[in-house]
Amino acid sequence: MYKDEKMEEILETININGPAPEAEPMRQYYFIKKARIYVKELSEKAGRPLTACTRTFGCQMNARDSEKLVGILEKVGYEVIENENADFVIFNTCTVRDNANQRVYGRLGVLNGYKRKNPHMKIALCGCMMQEPSVIEKIKESYRFVDLIFGTHNIFKFAELLNATFENRGMVIDIWQDTDKIVEDLPIERKYSFKSGVNIMFGCNNFCSYCIVPYVRGRERSRKPKDIIREIEQQVADGVVEVMLLGQNVNSYGKNLEEPMTFAQLLKEVEKIEGLERIRFMTSHPKDLSDELIEVMKNSKKICKHLHLPLQSGSTRILKAMNRVYTREQYLELAQKIRKEIPDIALTTDIIVGFPGETPEDVDATIDMVRQVKYDNAFTFIYSKRTGTPAAAMENQVPEEEVKQGFDRLLKVVQETAREQVAKYQGQIMDVLVEEINEHDGSLLTGRLSNNTLVHFPGDASLIGKIVNVSLDECHGFYYVGHMVE
Ligand code: 5AD
Ligand code: SF4
Repeated sequence: MYKDEKMEEILETININGPAPEAEPMRQYYFIKKARIYVKELSEKAGRPLTACTRTFGCQMNARDSEKLVGILEKVGYEVIENENADFVIFNTCTVRDNANQRVYGRLGVLNGYKRKNPHMKIALCGCMMQEPSVIEKIKESYRFVDLIFGTHNIFKFAELLNATFENRGMVIDIWQDTDKIVEDLPIERKYSFKSGVNIMFGCNNFCSYCIVPYVRGRERSRKPKDIIREIEQQVADGVVEVMLLGQNVNSYGKNLEEPMTFAQLLKEVEKIEGLERIRFMTSHPKDLSDELIEVMKNSKKICKHLHLPLQSGSTRILKAMNRVYTREQYLELAQKIRKEIPDIALTTDIIVGFPGETPEDVDATIDMVRQVKYDNAFTFIYSKRTGTPAAAMENQVPEEEVKQGFDRLLKVVQETAREQVAKYQGQIMDVLVEEINEHDGSLLTGRLSNNTLVHFPGDASLIGKIVNVSLDECHGFYYVGHMVE
């Protein structure tokens, strides 16, 4: 990403009276410059700055994409606010489970109310949900007040599409089926000054049978290592001390590069960046987790002691139906190897309950895995039928009541195990990266251990973004209360 001054220099050189350049990212700079004029005019008419709000649903990838949206919105002159009653509102949507979709429809109803009072308001939708044709049909039919819709593959075109909403009447819709394009060097506005997500790859090739992600995020594409390193170096120069390398399946990073490279090799390069203190990554598929990666993690001073390793189910029969390509035994062996090599690592996971054909015995097998692996935390989900995935067409969908029972049984054990795991460090002094003032008590700071556990302790805002030593005095289930030590 270019620095602000460099972006302004580029914008200076662009002639918006001529046609738009074909090449990216210059084309988008052209539209940024054009949009600035529209925003300025509207703001003068209104006699106040124009405001914009982004709402993010779903995962860390979406959170990072929203920073790209905010980057553009600020560059074209919007004042970005938290309130959805704004002049431009964009929802970056998720469709991994149906409840995320329902929330978007619910919020849209509220936005419609705001728009009636502010007719110049513009409403945009983007992200995973928009890659589903049935969703587009529904919006065209029942949510006519939406001004702009685009998907996951052309988010880099946001400046261009924003312009289109100023120049067209009616709904602007631009959805791509797939892309092999990765556009670098567009504006991004980070939410936190000291930590940042960094995309290392996009898409997923795994086609787990319940999952809609491969259909809405497309095939795997890795960014070039030099672009990733350059981005992180710039972030570090700008005050970032912790990066989260993002991909749906980071362990298959680099396979499709012109000069192939493994994820472990990439990590070694990131480790060399001076001034960077912590490296996290998300998400790992167990089938691709190499010994090389374990070795690199073990020897690293910067890679955090945390691995998120989605299990999904502890029953080999269900894993097979899910197309996860590992057995219960293989997963367990891997988890034990990781715990042996890196004893203080926190293992976290994702689990789905209620996959078609799952019996209470399968849930027992999952619960047993939770006990054996001793997860430090687990995200448990009720299976959600996603149209177009193989699992949606399976006949033996599990009745809701049975799913609920299995879910509750699992959750109880997940919580027990997590409490035990988190409590292991009571009384120790550990490094904490201070993230923010505590939400409930302004005299406390909230930070994170390398293993991702939250810690609250007395301190002042000047420490935000710094790594400090904290004594972990009391364990309260999932977090610690402590005090700073020299
Ligand atoms: N239903 C429920 N959970 C799902 N996930 C993905 N697809 C579904 C689905 N159809 C969960 C998986 C994944 C996490 C991001 O979301 O556990 O790891
Ligand atoms: Fe979905 Fe499986 Fe890809 Fe994860 S690895 S995004 S669960 S298809």
